Amino acid sequence: NWTPANFVTETVEQLKKTIGDRKVIMAISGGVDSTVAATLISRAIGKNLFGIFVDNGVLRKDEYQQVLEVYKQLDLNVKGVDAKDRFYSKLAGQTDPEVKRKAIGNTFIEVFDDESKLLEGIEMLGQGTIYPDVIESVSVHGPSVTIKSHHNVGGLPDSMKLELVEPLRFLFKDEVRKVGLELGIPYDLLYRHPFPGPGLAIRILGEVNAEKVNMLQQADAIYTQALKDWKLYDSVWQAGTILLPVKSVGVMGDERTYEFTVALRAVTSVDGMTADWAHLPYDFLAHVSNEIINNVKGINRVVYDISSKPPATIEWE
Ligand code: XMP
Repeated sequence: NWTPANFVTETVEQLKKTIGDRKVIMAISGGVDSTVAATLISRAIGKNLFGIFVDNGVLRKDEYQQVLEVYKQLDLNVKGVDAKDRFYSKLAGQTDPEVKRKAIGNTFIEVFDDESKLLEGIEMLGQGTIYPDVIESVSVHGPSVTIKSHHNVGGLPDSMKLELVEPLRFLFKDEVRKVGLELGIPYDLLYRHPFPGPGLAIRILGEVNAEKVNMLQQADAIYTQALKDWKLYDSVWQAGTILLPVKSVGVMGDERTYEFTVALRAVTSVDGMTADWAHLPYDFLAHVSNEIINNVKGINRVVYDISSKPPATIEWE
């Protein structure tokens, strides 16, 4: 019978056999799937796993440091690569959502490729592919394609002819989380809301720059913390803040302000395919609005998105 403990024991044994003394490279995103997959591989081969975690400049506030700290506690051999500036320069001047997505995906591949060239004798590529990804990529692209462009770590270059290691290939998300708990991965990481691969870049409408990212990271952190404090976090499927490319007039003390607007988004959903806007309490929304406007410089107005999917989408880009 399937239990997380049995799965861990059997998978680690099997990984030891199939990998042997070969070296495995793997992009790890801080998300559930790649973290659980990497931890399993690490249990099997230790320092022969070479994890790469990239700061693409559009992560959540303090996420880069926090995720690296978790990886350290899990004893994973992971290298953090701060590539913020490289991503920002590729994003400069770009306002089209799909162009922004591609800029991020391509830059990610470049960074990963550069890192892989620094390593010698790599023969295998680890991936956090889970069962729904397998079904989806088979139906959309035919069985040979295993990496979704929609996926968190982006695609990897075809030139990297590496054998794949995918220990979660037959698991569903809830099973992956249970395996993660069994491996000692923190609950908070395993039960976080989904977060898009292009990160805050698709929640900053229009052009992305470091200053806007900084503003949105602060607003997002306030919103997320408040959802947790008010015990609402687990009742919504996903939540986030969106920085609108709109300035409006406000007043602060005796001063007139002319600053940006942030939209709050929260949805209930089962799988993200359809979603309802979450009916969050007015008192809670009032609290978050005050916190954001009083603490985030550059924002003087907060609105709440009451659109469901369809016809709207969860993200605004
Ligand atoms: P939408 O906006 O299409 O989002 O209703 C559905 C779910 O997909 C996530 N999403 C993405 N995830 N790369 C990702 O890895 C992307 O480009 C992307 N776009 C949307 C979104 O956060 C939601 O969970």
